Amino acid sequence: MQNLWYKNAIVYSLDVETFMDANGDGIGDFIGLTQQLDYLSGLGITCLWLHPFYPSPNRDDGYDVMDYYNVDPRLGTLGDFVDFMQAAQERGIRILIDLVVNHTSIQHPWFQAARSSSSSPYRDYYVWSEHPPATDPSELVFPDAEDSIWEYDEQARAYYLHHFYKEQPDLNISNPTVRDEIRKIIHFWLTMGVSGFRVDAVPYFIKNVVELVAQYELESFLVELRQYVSARNPEAVLLAEANVESQSVPLYFGNGDRMHMLFSFFVNQKKFLALARQDATPLAEGLQQLPDLPRSGQWLNFVRHHDELTLDQLSAAEQQEVFQAFAPDPAMQIYGRGIRRRLPPMIQNNRQHLELIYSLLFTLPGIPLLRYGDEIGMGDDLSLPDRDSVRTPMQWSDQPNGGFSQAAVEDLAKPVISEGDYGYQRVNVAAQQRDPHSLLNWFDRAIRIRKQCPELGCGQLHLLETTEPAVLAHCCSHPSGVVVAIHNLSHHPCTIALKSNPYSNLADLFGDQSYEPLQDSLTIPIAAYGYRWFRALDIVGYVRSNQKGTN
Ligand code: GLC
Ligand code: CA
Repeated sequence: MQNLWYKNAIVYSLDVETFMDANGDGIGDFIGLTQQLDYLSGLGITCLWLHPFYPSPNRDDGYDVMDYYNVDPRLGTLGDFVDFMQAAQERGIRILIDLVVNHTSIQHPWFQAARSSSSSPYRDYYVWSEHPPATDPSELVFPDAEDSIWEYDEQARAYYLHHFYKEQPDLNISNPTVRDEIRKIIHFWLTMGVSGFRVDAVPYFIKNVVELVAQYELESFLVELRQYVSARNPEAVLLAEANVESQSVPLYFGNGDRMHMLFSFFVNQKKFLALARQDATPLAEGLQQLPDLPRSGQWLNFVRHHDELTLDQLSAAEQQEVFQAFAPDPAMQIYGRGIRRRLPPMIQNNRQHLELIYSLLFTLPGIPLLRYGDEIGMGDDLSLPDRDSVRTPMQWSDQPNGGFSQAAVEDLAKPVISEGDYGYQRVNVAAQQRDPHSLLNWFDRAIRIRKQCPELGCGQLHLLETTEPAVLAHCCSHPSGVVVAIHNLSHHPCTIALKSNPYSNLADLFGDQSYEPLQDSLTIPIAAYGYRWFRALDIVGYVRSNQKGTN
């Protein structure tokens, strides 16, 4: 039977560069990260996703790779990576790494060779055109920096395709030699012990920009990727970055022979619209629109990650509602479609509201992704350009540079937040570890209880109809048990009446406060921004053993 470990993983993402600097040069490194693994294991993390750590000119924070088979010397060596892998394995933490193969860096030797001569064997690794079509603005990923997806190269005397920055030429996936290179990269890192890949920019692989190949062939690349992975390690997973409409989701999962997991971009956008309106309806509708996944498929839920909070699937009017509520100043917005803030400043650091939003993260069908610093409520730095606002170093203590590094302030890879409500003097791990009421300790508890509810990762979703539009009531059922969760998106307390509830005996598992036990399962009081998780005790004979990873 396939090992479905990821169906109840607790995922945490970080960039080695900004997590912990062990040698005092101002740049986070693998030795520093290895030293902090006990912290992550203590928090209950079971899977770490590392942002790209390969040699890179860093035009796009490492998403422009120069060498797929190495560690950026600023972050350490391959030897440090191997030590890190072993330390993670000892703690039962699985590692996912970023697979960035839609494009390379312009400085990758392949591109250097490709541009140098049209007869180079590397020429066809990229996509060239002598007379490229005009770019539709909707095709631009970074509309602030680029105005075309084609760039003229003097040396090559042709235009090359780049969906992202011009320093990131797109690879030609329809070339079998390129696909074979990708296979080797996958095999290399699986041999190093990783448990899978967060696959960057997946929809762009199968975009048929130049009509080089039929759509079918491009889709079949997803099947090929899966085969490369499963051939080397049947437990390893592919987590696709694919911000697509719900109708396109089946293309990415296939019948269980393509991607294992997708980020829940669609639901996340509906969730922020619901939060802005204090009305659960858009979220409930979004959940209902999701197609059923194959048995091995899973959603990775998130609130914020390292990019903008994109709202591109909402209408212009809906985007404005979300901007109004959470990012009214244009400096808080980016690319005309997203928000470049961390969550706490978006909601005025309201602790109840924060807990509500993270409680949704833990209970919506799928598994949760935390990003470093979420657990202590880190803020953003809007004085930094673009998405760097949410990429400041981890705040470990009230020591200089927040304990991230002993280097001089001017030598830090990115500035630490050192002023105001979110400065490291106020927001840091050490202080929150000492405070039993801290957000960090809340996360600790939430993760512990989440791990006792594998139904949320494996079960079938049912929405329960309530009389209060502000409240989302849902349950996840599985032969092993049922978990019911109630979330009040509004700042008014209420008592909801459920129209029906198949479960009559609900025991509180977790909540924003300690509530009186329910008198009846149809009438449920809930505080402002409140949340309650229940286990249905009427499910008799459910088996506590062997429920992880089953479906
Ligand atoms: C993905 C990454 C983003 C990067 C882009 C180009 O969207 O998340 O950070 O800029 O791909 O690689
Ligand atoms: Ca360092």
